[in-house]
Amino acid sequence: MDPYKYRPASAFNSPFWTTNSGAPVWNNNSSLTVGSRGPILLEDYHLVEKLANFDRERIPERVVHARGASAKGFFEVTHDISNLTCADFLRSPGVQTPVIVRFSTVIHERGSPETLRDPRGFAVKFYTREGNFDLVGNNFPVFFIRDGMKFPDMVHALKPNPKTHIQEDWRIMDFFSHHPESLHMFTFLFDDIGVPADYRHMDGSGVNTYTLISKEGKAHYVKFHWKTTCGVKSLLEEEAVIVGGTNHSHATKDLTDSIAAGNYPEWKLFIQTIDPDYEDRFDFDPLDVTKTWPEDIIPLQPVGRMVLNKNIDNFFAENEQLAFCPSIVVPGIYYSDDKLLQTRIFSYSDTQRHRLGPNYLMLPPNAPKCAHHNNHHEGFMNFMHRDEEVNYFPSRYDPVRHAERFPNPPGVLTGRREKVVIEKENNFKQPGERYRSMDPARQERFIKRMVGALSDPRVTHEVRSIWVSYWSQADKSLGQKLATRLNVKPSM
Ligand code: HEM
Repeated sequence: MDPYKYRPASAFNSPFWTTNSGAPVWNNNSSLTVGSRGPILLEDYHLVEKLANFDRERIPERVVHARGASAKGFFEVTHDISNLTCADFLRSPGVQTPVIVRFSTVIHERGSPETLRDPRGFAVKFYTREGNFDLVGNNFPVFFIRDGMKFPDMVHALKPNPKTHIQEDWRIMDFFSHHPESLHMFTFLFDDIGVPADYRHMDGSGVNTYTLISKEGKAHYVKFHWKTTCGVKSLLEEEAVIVGGTNHSHATKDLTDSIAAGNYPEWKLFIQTIDPDYEDRFDFDPLDVTKTWPEDIIPLQPVGRMVLNKNIDNFFAENEQLAFCPSIVVPGIYYSDDKLLQTRIFSYSDTQRHRLGPNYLMLPPNAPKCAHHNNHHEGFMNFMHRDEEVNYFPSRYDPVRHAERFPNPPGVLTGRREKVVIEKENNFKQPGERYRSMDPARQERFIKRMVGALSDPRVTHEVRSIWVSYWSQADKSLGQKLATRLNVKPSM
């Protein structure tokens, strides 16, 4: 091995303790003191280094999705969709691609219980031959808001009160009373699936609309969906209290244990597609992330399967330092003009440069597994080995050339500068349909949770009646039931 290309690892099985610079440590028990009881000498370099490293062990936790569990495995194409996309990893059935997945809760801290009512993150990194593709999704197919401008406020409202550090329903109900587009998301969050049994028993969704582009340059809007083969299971309130009270890491443990036992979790990947030439024919905007695409008119098409068959070796390296970003796509998969997605394209790598440093993409779980090259280098914690003399472009000395051009979405963009809400808001139809699709017992549990949140003593009469009026527009009988139980009349 070339000693100068050596990368630090603790896997070389040194027979004895060493300092970080490799010097032997002959005593890892006692500090270096003057006499047996004397003060400690600053020259005890090993002690100083040990404490200094310890003092810096924590990095900032993710601003959202701080609590998570990851695992590795593979994705395999089972159905040919090469007519829709030129993505190399989707080129034909049988093709396998390594993946790393991170499941998470959203709102609470790194060490919080995994039994709280909260959406779950479902982020998949595909290590393809044409670079990584990050499908950074959730377990619900829609989202609370449709414009990323509102995301920081939304997260502040959902996070604990800045004064008391307690999550409080009055703040949540207050914020969302301004956002009827959130109703659809609440029909998932306040449904039984708002507390998944664990990470294996939940579906996933890319949520935002992306674009698939074929070799010929034809674009299709696409939504991605993961369906668990383990079946969807949830915890009702009383069960969640017992499970969470017994082990606040139960979902991480379930994932780790089942993989260790050879009981590998598996999901099937499906897509729905819309030809952008016909995007206006719906009563909703297909790029509105608060909407699902009805499966009876836009059917699910099978694409592949994902199997998680390997636990991570180290939580810090492969979970804390793992970084996903919806902007990380491959040729054949592109963004759409979905406003929320457009904001996400900026936000993830921005936070990761802060959370992990500017060279976070060099960290082993984040780095592509294919050959990669550019001249963005140096900066803090750069550990890439480079021995080129030419670090500029273009150069007659550097043989590296542009990649072959790949197709972009062909649509033409025109319009005035605007700061407006989309035209087809249609905030009430889909939440009403979803509520009516639940059986009566499930509807009753949904109502109880909504009444519970709106019964916070600090929720004002005005906020309660706004919510009742929203739900009445989604479903008359739901509105009536809420009005009776909360003793309010709809306000509009
Ligand atoms: C404008 C809207 C959004 C913004 C600005 C935003 C921002 C962020 C940020 C800053 C992080 C932390 C990333 C890190 O530190 O590595 C994050 C994590 C995450 N977000 Fe979002 N987010 C948005 C909407 C969404 C939506 C709609 C979804 C679901 C499709 C989603 C899914 C996730 C997931 C799964 C993670 C955790 C990734 C991991 O496991 O490391 N986010 N988001």
